Amino acid sequence: MSDFTSNFWNWYIIGLTLASIAFCAWLLVSMAKTTVMGGTKVPAAGPGGKEVETTGHTWDGDLAEFNNPLPRWWMWLFWITIFFSLGYLLLYPGLGKLPGMLQWSTAGAYAKESAAMDAKVKPLYDKYLTMDLKQVSADAAARGMGERIFLNHCAQCHGSDAGGARGFPSLRDADWLYGGAPETIKESVANGRMGVMPALGAALGGADNIKNVVAYVHSLSGLPHDGTKAQLGRVQYETVCAACHGVDGKGNQALGAPNLTDRIWLYGSSEAVITEGIMKGRNVSATPGTTTMPAFKDQLGPAKIHLVAAYVWGLGAGAQPAAGALPAPAAAKVYFDTGKADVTAEATKALTDLAAAAKAGSGTLSITGFHDATGSLQANQDLAKQRAFSVRDTLKAAGVPEDRIELKKPEQTTGTGGDAEARRVEVTLR
Ligand code: HEC
Ligand code: HEC
Repeated sequence: MSDFTSNFWNWYIIGLTLASIAFCAWLLVSMAKTTVMGGTKVPAAGPGGKEVETTGHTWDGDLAEFNNPLPRWWMWLFWITIFFSLGYLLLYPGLGKLPGMLQWSTAGAYAKESAAMDAKVKPLYDKYLTMDLKQVSADAAARGMGERIFLNHCAQCHGSDAGGARGFPSLRDADWLYGGAPETIKESVANGRMGVMPALGAALGGADNIKNVVAYVHSLSGLPHDGTKAQLGRVQYETVCAACHGVDGKGNQALGAPNLTDRIWLYGSSEAVITEGIMKGRNVSATPGTTTMPAFKDQLGPAKIHLVAAYVWGLGAGAQPAAGALPAPAAAKVYFDTGKADVTAEATKALTDLAAAAKAGSGTLSITGFHDATGSLQANQDLAKQRAFSVRDTLKAAGVPEDRIELKKPEQTTGTGGDAEARRVEVTLR
């Protein structure tokens, strides 16, 4: 398609091109013939004793300037260039918008090349297409092909390592919005995905309710939260959110509603980010294929989708569950019996998991003991400290080096007396 609406520029370019070629030709012809005004003939001074024409200039008293024609070979080079350019312009696009007799175009050349390439690899594609996706994923050559397709078509959104970005899911982990089964991954790629969460600020009715729901969402994945608010938020959650995210918060893959109980976040876990999602919704007015997953069935076709899906499956769902690949716990809460500072068997297990996560990664485990306001402040703080020490000792016993454990000052919580929240110690990996 031309950007110009009138043909003027087309003919302007054609005219200019032809005129400059014609000018070159004229220059050659005229230069070959010109005799210089005032020139004289000098007998037998030229090569081979021939008579030579001079330009009439004499330099340094006795140096005559000969008016020799251009050497033959030199002239011919010019003529060849002129004929070549005319021939080229006749065959290939070059004169304005004229397509040239061969009808060649860059787009056409590309299409031809990729068709030739496709024909060449078709038997290979066909072979993989008949193979089970899991087998394809085990084939190193197929994985290489899948990876190249991924880098060309998917990396700009999912990252070159498929690790994802804000709003674009990681395809490496075991957490799936829609599911990690081979057929489900193929479905995601072929038909695209667009998970929509409506704006729900109005449904929740009021800033307090939103704060409470956010606290409840935080509690679902064990993030620090206000227990009272979370309890209130639970009611709102069950009426407004559970329809999509499930009563247990584990999400719904039929809708692409994320699991809210893991520590994997598409957008982020801060109160501000979750509130933003509730107020504005997600993908409510998205243009399909910008912040959502485009459909690739036309662009890639079944064989390439099969290969790239096998590659993705091998990264995430089908990956050997290595210790680091599973969502690592980043925090734990340890509840103590009234007046006691002993770590229960259940809490020991949670702390051992957290210790394993800390050892596998980096960061410091920060320990804070909590107490309420009833009774002597000194006694309360002492007990909270004792509990924090027990937690530290449990973590050390699980192999965390002491310099990666940090003890914070005991804190008073607003929880009512006797509430389990006031008998807790929190450990956060940061
Ligand atoms: C324009 C950006 C974009 C491109 C390009 C893109 N994706 Fe996606 N993809 C997304 C988004 C956004 C989602 C999440 C959709 C949602 O939340 O509903 C997604 C979801 C997916 C899912 C589902 C993940 C799950 O957890 O269930 C798979 C699988 C996937 N993409 C694979 C691919 C592959 C393979 C390619 C290349 C052929 C690709 N994507 C190219 C944006 C993109
Ligand atoms: C109609 C279904 C639906 C309802 C109702 C709904 N959500 Fe969602 N929610 C979704 C979908 C789908 C997504 C994923 C959006 C995307 O892919 O970009 C989502 C995403 C989220 C996220 C982002 C998760 C992450 O990993 O970053 C949070 C948090 C969330 N919802 C919380 C809530 C809360 C709280 C409520 C109730 C107030 C709620 N949702 C109600 C469908 C719903």
